[in-house]
Amino acid sequence: MQTQTVLITGAANGIGRAAALAFAARAKHVVVTDIDETGARTVAAEIGETASAYQLDVTDPAATQAVFDRTAQQVGPIAIVHANAGVSSMKPAVDLTEADWDFNFAVNAKGVFLTNQAAVRHFLAHGVQGVIVNTASLAAKVGAPLLAHYSASKFAVIGWTQALAREVAPHGIRVNAVCPGFVRTPMQDREVAWEAELRGMTPEAVRQSYIDQTPLGRLETPEDVADVAVFLASDAARFMTGQGINVTGGVYMT
Ligand SMILES: NC(=O)c1ccc[n+]([C@@H]2O[C@H](COP(=O)([O-])OP(=O)(O)OC[C@H]3O[C@@H](n4cnc5c(N)ncnc54)[C@H](O)[C@@H]3O)[C@@H](O)[C@H]2O)c1
Repeated sequence: MQTQTVLITGAANGIGRAAALAFAARAKHVVVTDIDETGARTVAAEIGETASAYQLDVTDPAATQAVFDRTAQQVGPIAIVHANAGVSSMKPAVDLTEADWDFNFAVNAKGVFLTNQAAVRHFLAHGVQGVIVNTASLAAKVGAPLLAHYSASKFAVIGWTQALAREVAPHGIRVNAVCPGFVRTPMQDREVAWEAELRGMTPEAVRQSYIDQTPLGRLETPEDVADVAVFLASDAARFMTGQGINVTGGVYMT
């Protein structure tokens, strides 16, 4: 990985930030991207000279293409892409609006499609046997109450990951996904507040319910996910493709 350049989306916070730092310890260069430009710059500054930062909304295909092209010109082709950007909101399924559905699908499903497509085109154009890691979710494996739209958008990520993996395998390109559980991030802070309100519980009780569902007995950290993303991108995972790897502390086991 020492000679490789890595691009991560949604890397200003949470899992993406942890992945940027984990890849930075091993790779040649890390491209830190996020819709939040200040956040992306802060993470890149933490890494230092071997990182660059871009404001990138993953729902924008032209902007995505531009970041790939500029990186190729400035530091060389990208070989590892972690499509991690995601959003959520919480409501009973019967109260969901089209806007709730569209927002979750635009970032979580279409964003992964556009980032992956740009990645594969980039790998093929530069003759790189690249690797893609998508961030799916526990909610991509089992339907999550109050998150039906989010869950559906994350099931889409697994279907996409499997189909793309089959298509690009002849080129030596691998595509896998990580499926995190209850990870302590800004997204979780927002979800805990929503769930507390919707269920008439305290935020502390909501968090405790996450821990109670987790056999390994604690909330997941962003680093727990980042380390598996790094593994999937590494040569140690050279014979793995089309997988959705659960990183949940045992919440989900098949
Ligand atoms: N936190 C969890 O418990 C959990 C569990 C399973 C899966 N996930 C998934 O992990 C990924 C990261 O989640 P997190 O918990 O670190 O969330 P987070 O909200 O803490 O961080 C997500 C980052 O994505 C960025 N982002 C949002 N919309 C974007 C867009 N359109 N384009 C580019 N960047 C955008 C945000 O600015 C933010 O920096 C998401 O795909 C999420 O669905 C999280």
